[in-house]
Amino acid sequence: MAFDAFFLFQILGATVLALAATKVSRWLWLYVWLPYRFSGGRLAERYGPGSWALITGASDGLGKAFAQELARLGFNLILVSRTPSKLDRLKDELQALGVQVRTVAVDLSDTSPHTYEPMVTAVQELDLSVLINCVGTTVHRRYADVPAGAVRHLLAVNVSTTAIVTHTMLPFLLRHTASTGRLSALLNVGSIVGRFYWPGTQLYGACKSFIDHLSVPLAFEYQNQLDVLSYQPTVMSTAMATGTEPAAITISPQQAAQAALSHLGHTVASHGHWRHGLFAAFLVALPSRLRNAILLAGALEMGKAELAKGE
Ligand SMILES: NC(=O)c1ccc[n+]([C@@H]2O[C@H](COP(=O)([O-])OP(=O)(O)OC[C@H]3O[C@@H](n4cnc5c(N)ncnc54)[C@H](OP(=O)(O)O)[C@@H]3O)[C@@H](O)[C@H]2O)c1
Repeated sequence: MAFDAFFLFQILGATVLALAATKVSRWLWLYVWLPYRFSGGRLAERYGPGSWALITGASDGLGKAFAQELARLGFNLILVSRTPSKLDRLKDELQALGVQVRTVAVDLSDTSPHTYEPMVTAVQELDLSVLINCVGTTVHRRYADVPAGAVRHLLAVNVSTTAIVTHTMLPFLLRHTASTGRLSALLNVGSIVGRFYWPGTQLYGACKSFIDHLSVPLAFEYQNQLDVLSYQPTVMSTAMATGTEPAAITISPQQAAQAALSHLGHTVASHGHWRHGLFAAFLVALPSRLRNAILLAGALEMGKAELAKGE
């Protein structure tokens, strides 16, 4: 009897160890091996050299880094954001790399149909193979302190626009797959904030969680047609995070874009860069009460920095 129990514990221990080893190996493969091996040629081959990528929030920060990286890989680009002068500057820079670039200047916080029409017009005659929904906006406050206008703004830019642009562009991505026999790609930018309950930035977290829940099911609905990545970064050194970034987890938008692109076609959800993956693993390991206290304190600090910037 004692022998049986001992044997059972051995089997149990071996199973737990094997599961832990599998998890660690997968983590290392995703966050270390794939970015290390990434050259980008695989993406051009997978989605079609010379096909088009549309990026929202493209003129700055992470969206701009995605545009620069995809241009380097030979994708033609449709850049979408508000400010024509910023779009034109980036267009000149990317065209110098030998790719074609079109720009669409629209305010994506206005979710009426006319906002999205110029984007449809722009892609109508083009072979769209990649869509990156990158536009996003945040606020860090206790919920009652979030201005009513900011509530509406966050919902419009993060939730409605991501849902509408994905829905509007999906037929063009599927058209690319049907006509070329190659896959197309949808990369929706969420945030680590959407993965946890995050006091102090609850609305932003809810919006980003929405993006995750919208995106991942599409990977299964359009298996063999569409690569989907629900990308959940932590902190990047962009305008959005200026004055708020803790050094240990802050990476450049270029590092973030490369890491995310290295995961496209390999997994449906990730934090991209290994530093962000490690931070997420650390948060998972914390007891929830302690995690919530740390997150709230950090978010309120970021709120102070936002107020100092006049946001
Ligand atoms: N930065 C971080 O630490 C961090 C962390 C996690 C997740 N994220 C997510 O990463 C994404 C990119 O963030 P980021 O830090 O790169 O932001 P960013 O530097 O502030 O850039 C935002 C981009 O979106 C455009 N944009 C902003 N509001 C717009 C609107 N209403 N309509 C059209 N375009 C608009 C901006 O250009 P115009 O001003 O010219 O329109 C700019 O090109 C967001 O989804 C964000 O939530 C960021």
